[in-house]
Amino acid sequence: MHPPEGTGSLSPSLYTDGGQDIAREIFEQEDHIFADKDLLNVDHVPSAERIVGRDDEIRKLAEELRSAVDGHSPENVIIYGKTGTGKSLVAKHVSTSAQGLAKEGVSIGTAYIDCSTDNTETQAISTLAREFNEPERTDVDVPETGLATAVYYKRLWAVLDILYDVVIVVLDEADMMASDDLLMKLSRAGETGNTDAHIGVIAVSNKVEWADDLNERVKSSLQPKELAFQPYDATQLREIMENRRDAFEDGVLSEDVIPLCAAFAAQDFGDARKAIDILRHSGQLAYRQSDEQVVESHVREARTEAEKDRFKELIEGHPQQAKAILLALSLLSANSEKDEFQSQLVYRQYTNIAEKIDMDSLSDRRFRDILKEQAFLDIIDVWKENLGRSGGINLYCRLIENPEIVVEIISGDPRFEGLSLVNAATPSEN
Ligand SMILES: Nc1ncnc2c1ncn2[C@@H]1O[C@H](COP(=O)(O)OP(=O)(O)OP(=O)(O)O)[C@@H](O)[C@H]1O
Ligand SMILES: [Mg+2]
Repeated sequence: MHPPEGTGSLSPSLYTDGGQDIAREIFEQEDHIFADKDLLNVDHVPSAERIVGRDDEIRKLAEELRSAVDGHSPENVIIYGKTGTGKSLVAKHVSTSAQGLAKEGVSIGTAYIDCSTDNTETQAISTLAREFNEPERTDVDVPETGLATAVYYKRLWAVLDILYDVVIVVLDEADMMASDDLLMKLSRAGETGNTDAHIGVIAVSNKVEWADDLNERVKSSLQPKELAFQPYDATQLREIMENRRDAFEDGVLSEDVIPLCAAFAAQDFGDARKAIDILRHSGQLAYRQSDEQVVESHVREARTEAEKDRFKELIEGHPQQAKAILLALSLLSANSEKDEFQSQLVYRQYTNIAEKIDMDSLSDRRFRDILKEQAFLDIIDVWKENLGRSGGINLYCRLIENPEIVVEIISGDPRFEGLSLVNAATPSEN
């Protein structure tokens, strides 16, 4: 059998016609932009002295956990706030410092669960038991899978009793848990005599409604203290980035780069992750274009790229109908001075598109449902206008994203190819 084309020896494909070794050229290129790029990685956990602008939140959380260091029961805490506001960072930082600063004779354990990965009770409890366990000291075996949930709990309680006076469990992305059972059992563990260790839970979520919706049963046994994290303002974002300036070689960052990254990120929801992301991308662009310095134009370009990536991720897997509706609204916005449109107008534009690509058009009602779903995802704004005495209602919508970007991304989908070139034959308002 012949190997499929291109899978033979690797080496020839590394050379261009001119015989140059492209890979080698890239690997040997001096990095004159970054001194320590890891400081800007998404999963980089900054050390305590690089955490800025969250003193109050750190203080409040530490106060709630204060009794842990003396070997007593810490408070349970729910941390909520928008994405990129430092919730995970602060939760990890404060819980691990409590562990490190435990009084003599007090043994504190901490575990971190990402409920977006371990989203069933069994998975989470298995991870918890393994994180806390030290098999050579406990002689308890906790296999990753294969035990019944109740058995995992038993082993967890056994491990806690042998090793710890107090444990702090961080449940990050807690709203992704399939049920509240884990929270329930952790909060009742002492009361029900399952373990002598004191358990404190820090549940973290970026769904503000989640904390409110937690059912009464869980709330009454968890008795959580709530801690809200506000979005960062431009000054705080600037400080966060200034603290990582040493990711770059000396003198490479021109003065306006960090302030501009901060201004963009502050505009887009005060998200520190986004600010750092734009900064890293700006550096990468400068590097790729072999520029001496990172300057404003790199930041602008990086921001557009970041927006595209984010939006692509957001609508990946959306049904074609939803994409057609978004495309309709985007084409209207891109071709008009206005940015607010009556839903009827968008519906007509949508049916035009559906016809052009030979797709069934949804009913007006279904169309409105999809508009509302998109509003829920913060892609568009939707609002109603009451028409006074007549009792009628007009539905309006506005695209939150940049229309050019949405058009570009959606027309990248083969089904919609070429539609961006079709000038939105803007249907008349009446
Ligand atoms: N105060 C800060 N000082 C330094 N770096 C920060 C600060 N706040 C956030 N960061 C950095 O920004 C990024 C996002 O922070 P973090 O993961 O804590 O946000 P989050 O609120 O948990 O967001 P999400 O809700 O999306 O999980 C991380 O890379 C973190 O290191
Ligand atoms: Mg987080």
